[in-house]
Amino acid sequence: MRSKDPLDETRGGISAAGSSEGGAEGEVGHLPVMAGEVVETLAPRSDSLQIDATLGGAGHAVRILEASSPDGRLLGLDADGAAIARSAVRLARFGDRVVLRQANFSQLAEVAPAAGFGQVDGMLLDLGLSSFQLVDVERGFGFRAGGRLDMRFDTSRGRPAADLLATMDAGELAALLRRYGEEPFAGRIARTIVETRHHSPVETAEQLAALVERAVPTPRGRRTHPATRVFQALRIAVNDELASLEAGLAASLTLLRPGGRLAVLSYHSLEDRIVKRFIAAEQRGCVCPPEVPICVCGRRPNLRSLGKSRAASLTEIATNPRSRSARLRGAERIAA
Ligand SMILES: C[S@@+](CC[C@H](N)C(=O)[O-])C[C@H]1O[C@@H](n2cnc3c(N)ncnc32)[C@H](O)[C@@H]1O
Repeated sequence: MRSKDPLDETRGGISAAGSSEGGAEGEVGHLPVMAGEVVETLAPRSDSLQIDATLGGAGHAVRILEASSPDGRLLGLDADGAAIARSAVRLARFGDRVVLRQANFSQLAEVAPAAGFGQVDGMLLDLGLSSFQLVDVERGFGFRAGGRLDMRFDTSRGRPAADLLATMDAGELAALLRRYGEEPFAGRIARTIVETRHHSPVETAEQLAALVERAVPTPRGRRTHPATRVFQALRIAVNDELASLEAGLAASLTLLRPGGRLAVLSYHSLEDRIVKRFIAAEQRGCVCPPEVPICVCGRRPNLRSLGKSRAASLTEIATNPRSRSARLRGAERIAA
């Protein structure tokens, strides 16, 4: 069975409807998710410094630069060199208000000060992958990609997904699918991968998607492709996404000045749980046990949550269906 739903191509931060050519405000092939809410959360002023740590197609970056016009400056980061090159063209009209770097946001604490953004007023993380990456058949992010399964955001580092499929044993593969995909049929899929590769390699996204379709039962009325969780798990593992997220969030504490705002868009529960716990932990003050009369831990809150997570409006979901799984969380740095 092959799902007809374009939404399930793979979960996670696909910021645009692939068919949105010439969408809102001249957007070409790319619709930034919850753009109004993101700008509202960051509230960028004209003299502010902002970091967009997941530049992608620069949709959010454009909105932030427009909202902080005429003098606000933005550091744009992406692990993917192609995203940086594309965004450089799109953002050229903002001149020296924009600084771009190809880097992983897990390195933000070093990269941002070196680029002159040591203390900033806002920072955005829009997690996952962009539609540019999804539709590039050479990268292997989408189910129909015929090229070798790669899935790296930064193609100059780490191991492509095809290497993991070729070398991990069934136990390791099953653990990966359970951990990063919460895949209920992890064991069965892992065994099928190992059995299959004895006679033919599992090297392309297309082959993997077909293999998973054969390996798992298909409940009636299923809306997502059966390989959705498998693709998510591989992508997270290949890019070490959860560890990068933890490091990127930690960097926000050193980079945001008091009153500075953090906005994070996540697209699945593993990411959102990390963001939610981070904000909850950093807004906690004293952690001394109740029987200790005077605080001895000296712990002070670092963040103030800007309220519950927000979801995209029904209107946005109707025009950009991929926004349906988005969760936006915001927090403000408070003085230590
Ligand atoms: C959902 S897209 C961002 C879309 C963007 N906000 C827009 O409006 O066009 C996510 C981007 O983040 C990048 N990315 C993902 N993880 C990253 C990391 N750890 N460090 C740097 N960039 C990362 C991906 O390469 C991708 O281009």
